[in-house]
Amino acid sequence: TVLIVDFGSQVTQLIARRVRESGVYCEIAPFQSAEEAFRRLQPKAIILSGSPASTVDIGSPRAPDVIFESGLPVLGICYGEQTMCAQLGGKVEGSDHREFGRAFLEIQDDCALFDGVWAKGTRHQVWMSHGDRVTALPPGFRIVGTSTGAPFAAIADEARKYYGVQFHPEVVHTPDGARLLANFVQNIAGLKGDWTMAAYREQAIEAIRKQVGKGKVICALSGGVDSSVAALLTHEAVGDQLTCILVDHGLMRKNEAADVVAMFREHYNLPLILVDASDRFIGALEGESDPETKRKTIGRLFIEVFEEEAKKLGGADYLVQGTLYPDVIESVSFTGGPSVTIKSHHNVGGLPERMKMSLVEPLRELFKDEVRVLGRELGLPESFIGRHPFPGPGLAIRCPGGVTREKLDILRAADAIYLDEIRKAGLYDAIWQAFAVLLPVQTVGVMGDGRTYEFVCALRAVTSVDGMTADFYHYDMEFLGRAATRIINEVKGINRVVYDVTSKPPGTIEWE
Ligand code: XMP
Repeated sequence: TVLIVDFGSQVTQLIARRVRESGVYCEIAPFQSAEEAFRRLQPKAIILSGSPASTVDIGSPRAPDVIFESGLPVLGICYGEQTMCAQLGGKVEGSDHREFGRAFLEIQDDCALFDGVWAKGTRHQVWMSHGDRVTALPPGFRIVGTSTGAPFAAIADEARKYYGVQFHPEVVHTPDGARLLANFVQNIAGLKGDWTMAAYREQAIEAIRKQVGKGKVICALSGGVDSSVAALLTHEAVGDQLTCILVDHGLMRKNEAADVVAMFREHYNLPLILVDASDRFIGALEGESDPETKRKTIGRLFIEVFEEEAKKLGGADYLVQGTLYPDVIESVSFTGGPSVTIKSHHNVGGLPERMKMSLVEPLRELFKDEVRVLGRELGLPESFIGRHPFPGPGLAIRCPGGVTREKLDILRAADAIYLDEIRKAGLYDAIWQAFAVLLPVQTVGVMGDGRTYEFVCALRAVTSVDGMTADFYHYDMEFLGRAATRIINEVKGINRVVYDVTSKPPGTIEWE
């Protein structure tokens, strides 16, 4: 295991991704609890992350002393390099030469970090983002790389296996960065790159068996990749002690509930109960147009329905949840204070307290990409693995204003055509999320010889890494024209199609 000490950089998670891609397991701990994490994990190497803080400020964060007392290899990145220097007897100063963005690193000397990647005398693109810089090295260190703005851009103390880089090897703008990180964890720290999803699968299954024993387990299946993989893993571990419940709230996409059920029943023979609660959900939503009330109504009903079904089964001791590592990592905040709620998200969060169940969270240590790899490992069809995200409240939040069965049917038909065209054009995987929205507005049109007065459909498509920010997708107009024509011709109730060119921020991805 490698311990990554987080000082609050925006890209700390990328360090973890790169380390894991090299086949070495790692965990992130905020600097405040890094000492506790160090004792618990007993890591074989440490990486210190970047930070928005400044080492020259009084009270700025430091790495716990145990790290430097342990004799383990340490790699400091950006702020991590600076605090390492400050803590080991070197000097860091604020400077006027801020460096942001692309820079070039001149390799002054060979070192184990650069082995097989960069040779002495060559020059390479790296990504910088710093104001302060190291101005005097601690004893034992030497310079191995320089840049215009950072005379100490790469430093090494090979006797103690301490390395520091001012640039960010974890971002793609440092094209060779992943290989440097692999050098650090494999060659320098001597960790074998044998952490694979096949190995993880075995470990996770063992852990579930140990946790659950003979207990009864239930899982709320949505058809999304996270809950699907969590359910399959648990089923492999405890077989029919697990029952999955799929609550069809009538807000899913075309054929979705049936497809999910067919896949799980046929391929995995997994005990699965499909509950058609669409009347209840749609009934409760009718006449309600406030987005937050809609979201809360759906969340509340979901818990009610799920709880009733669980009671019919005689209750359960455990609830499986597809919680991922990014939800678990404690974030380091320098601003403090709670953030504003933009939307109340729908998940099964309220269930465990209410039903007194313990959680089984077999994906807690994984990033989304890793869950996909694990899904493939478990034989989940590619159509499930590569799916665009779909929100818990479903099509209700894509029908701004009041929701009716009729509107949902119109939206479902338009959405299916839109996605079909995206797949035919080979664009599905290039887009992060795409969907249709049915506006509560009717406009005048002409079809054949007649006047029409029907709804407007908006199309949305975005690219994103994590849904936190997003850009609207740049289609060519031919494509949009094709999709619009098909929707208007084939869907009764829509006579106009528009494309949403709002990015996030300032827009959100969903319309409500
Ligand atoms: P927004 O609209 O906030 O959405 O930009 C960001 C991502 O989150 C999805 N989303 C949800 N997912 N429950 C979910 O599981 C929800 O209540 C929910 N609301 C939005 C949205 O589809 C996008 O991928």
